[in-house]
Amino acid sequence: MRNEPTPAAYEWPDAAWLRRFRRKLLAWYACNARDLAWRHAPDAYHVWVSEIMLQQTQVATVERYFPRFIAAFPTPAHLASAPEHEVLRLWEGLGYYRRARQLHRAAQEIMRDHDGKFPTNRDAVGRLPGIGRYTAGAILSIAYDAREPILEANTIRLLSRLIAYRDDPRKKAGQDVLWRLAESVLPRRGSSKLNQALMELGSLVCTPRNPACLRCPLVELCPTFRQSIAHLIPRPQPRPKVELVREALVVVRHREKVLLRQRQPGERWAGLWDFPRFDISSCADREPVEIVARLAAATGVSARLAEPLTTLKHGVTRFRITLECHWADCVKKPPRRPELRWLRPVELADYPLNTTGRKVARFISRESD
Ligand code: ADE
Repeated sequence: MRNEPTPAAYEWPDAAWLRRFRRKLLAWYACNARDLAWRHAPDAYHVWVSEIMLQQTQVATVERYFPRFIAAFPTPAHLASAPEHEVLRLWEGLGYYRRARQLHRAAQEIMRDHDGKFPTNRDAVGRLPGIGRYTAGAILSIAYDAREPILEANTIRLLSRLIAYRDDPRKKAGQDVLWRLAESVLPRRGSSKLNQALMELGSLVCTPRNPACLRCPLVELCPTFRQSIAHLIPRPQPRPKVELVREALVVVRHREKVLLRQRQPGERWAGLWDFPRFDISSCADREPVEIVARLAAATGVSARLAEPLTTLKHGVTRFRITLECHWADCVKKPPRRPELRWLRPVELADYPLNTTGRKVARFISRESD
């Protein structure tokens, strides 16, 4: 290790360090790589789907969703020709549904512009919806062994520690240093393995808290271990302030059926179906009146609030949400609208819902058995 003269906030590796690093990391990966479904046949389509799922989602969760998704849509052609609601139904529970809509649109572009084959060209890949610098690098390196760097949460942490990068690695200067390092560590051939090994080591050993340094194949090369400063690198972020939110959800019933509304473009969960729900954080004691008024404004349905159904607690980013679910009796049905459906509870299984919507659907399906 040799210190670059400026800036002195990190230790830049030399050629001998890089050679040892690659040898040790790849030897470790050969014995420790997890047997993940998307590694079985690493063609670009599989790698792409897995990488999109892995954004914001843990490997254990993706392991459950990936095989089902690939069984339903084995090629870009199958995905492109599926209706959006089927794609969303298979994505249900993974959250961040924009990823699924963009995946669907990108598959249609691949059919239209690339003859149904995932492109190999860097710029063409980067133009597909939902594919940024990291995802393009991951697909091109993992599937085609292109010498393309990657940088995501696991590798930001691992690489920051390997050069003892003391500033904030999420800022522009930090990103520039780490992308340069992510490229420098790549061999001339074998970027597929090397990039996957980096992520695997970051995820299994070089963890955010209490990294398992004594099991790390790179321990002798690591200035952060030498200085016992793993708790300071990457520089801890201030925690976002938690906000408490109260929402109401209404299951409006009319004879044997309940009301579902499709979320519109621009709304949270666009394309998914949902029971009408409203933020009631600032309603205080006018709550029942407000709920009924907002229901009428959003759907044209006039209803009377009935008995409580259940209360669900869940988190979305920094928001802690208490969702109070009520039955309501329809007093007057509006004329047909494309975004509204009246459904028997068993029919809810065919509609993509968000996680709390599905919980409510299960709840009322059991009650109506
Ligand atoms: N996280 C994101 N992409 C990954 C991959 N290909 N392997 C393991 N963890 C990952």
